[in-house]
Amino acid sequence: MHFTADQYIVFDNSTFESLNSFLSDSDHDKLFILVDEKTRKHCLPKLAEIPAISLACTIEIKSGEEHKTLQTCEYIWNDLTANNASRNSLLINLGGGVIGDMGGFAASCYKRGMRFINIPTTLLAIVDASVGGKLGVDFNGLKNHIGMFNHPEKVIIQSCFFESLPERQLRSGFAEVIKHALIADSNLWTYLQGIDDLTQVNWDEIIPRSVEIKSEIVAQDPTEKGLRKVLNFGHTIGHAIESMFLNTEKPLLHGEAVAIGMICEAFLSENIGILSVSKSEEIMRYIRKIFADISINIDNFDVFFDYLKQDKKNKAEKYQFSLISDIGKAVFDHSVGNDLIEECMKNYQELIKA
Ligand SMILES: NC(=O)c1ccc[n+]([C@@H]2O[C@H](COP(=O)([O-])OP(=O)(O)OC[C@H]3O[C@@H](n4cnc5c(N)ncnc54)[C@H](O)[C@@H]3O)[C@@H](O)[C@H]2O)c1
Ligand SMILES: [Zn+2]
Repeated sequence: MHFTADQYIVFDNSTFESLNSFLSDSDHDKLFILVDEKTRKHCLPKLAEIPAISLACTIEIKSGEEHKTLQTCEYIWNDLTANNASRNSLLINLGGGVIGDMGGFAASCYKRGMRFINIPTTLLAIVDASVGGKLGVDFNGLKNHIGMFNHPEKVIIQSCFFESLPERQLRSGFAEVIKHALIADSNLWTYLQGIDDLTQVNWDEIIPRSVEIKSEIVAQDPTEKGLRKVLNFGHTIGHAIESMFLNTEKPLLHGEAVAIGMICEAFLSENIGILSVSKSEEIMRYIRKIFADISINIDNFDVFFDYLKQDKKNKAEKYQFSLISDIGKAVFDHSVGNDLIEECMKNYQELIKA
C-alpha cells in the first residue's frame, strides 16, 4: 500500500539496513538501548549484526505497565548519568508502548533533551504509540498523567519482532488497526475482512496504511484540539471496560477492551441515527470473529458510569463520543446521555447471550 506519512517513520528491511545507515551517519557521542527483559531476550539479538549496536550500552528495566513510572525514569537517568550520557548521546527505545512512551519521556527530560529513536516491537506500539509524539509515564494510579509531546528522530518499523510476540498481544494491537480502518479507510476495512487468523497475516500489507492513517490525522491536529479526537473511537466505552476489569482476576489488554468499546460505540452511532443498521451489524460481526465476547456486569451500571466519568473528553455532565457515520468516516464531539449508553451496553450483553 502507498505510504506518504512523515519522513521520520522508516519501514526497514529484515536486515535493518536503514537503521544501520542512520546509526553510521549519526554523530552521536554514545549509544544507549533501553529494553525490558523480554525485548532484551527476543528483540535485541535481531539487531546484533549492526556494528554500532554491539558498542551500545544497554539499560534494562522491568516489563509491564506497572513499571511505567517516575521511579523507573530515575533508574534510567541514573544509568545515563553513570555512563556519561550527553545531550548528543542517542537513546534507542526497543520495545512496546511502555518502553516507547517512557524512554521518550526520560530522554526528553535528560539534560533538557537528549536524542532518541524508537524501534517499536509490538503491533500496538507500531501502529499507535510510536506515532503522534505523546510521551509520558503513569502517576499516582493515573495513566499517562505526567508527560509531554515530543518526537523521536526516527521510528524504525519491522514486523520481524512479531515472531516472539504472544498472539494475545498481537490481537490487542489489531484492535487499533481495525479502528483506523473504521474511522478513515473503507478499503482497508474491506482488506481486513479477509483476515481471521492473525498468525497468517502479511503485516507489511497492513502496517504502512495503518500508520499512515494515524500519522495524517495527527499531522492535522498535533495537540488534540479537534480532529485527533476521532482516534478515540471505541475508547470512551473501551477505557471504562478496561478499568472495570483492571483489578479483577482476568484483566483485559487495552485492545481487547477497545474491541468491545467499538462494538458498543457502533451501536451508539446506530442509535443516534448516524450509522445504518447494516453497517453496525457488519462491524459487530467482524470484531466478534477476531475477539472473544466479554460479559460486562450491567446489573450495576453505577460502577460502569463511575469509570466513564473519568473520561478526559467529558463536558458539563455529558459524555463526549467520537463515533462513526459510515465505515471509514468518523465524527467527534458528539454528546450522548446516560440512557442511550445504557441501552447500547444492554444491546451488547443481549447479543453475546444469544
Ligand atoms: N503514545 C501514544 O500515543 C500511545 C498510544 C497507545 C498506547 N500507548 C501506551 O502504550 C502502552 C501499551 O503498549 P504495548 O501494548 O506495546 O504494551 P507493552 O509495552 O507493555 O508490551 C506488551 C508486552 O509485550 C512484551 N514485548 C514487547 N515486544 C515484544 C516482542 N517482540 N516479543 C515478545 N514480547 C514482547 C513487553 O515486554 C510486554 O510484556 C501503554 O502504556 C499505553 O499507554 C501510547
Ligand atoms: Zn488505544
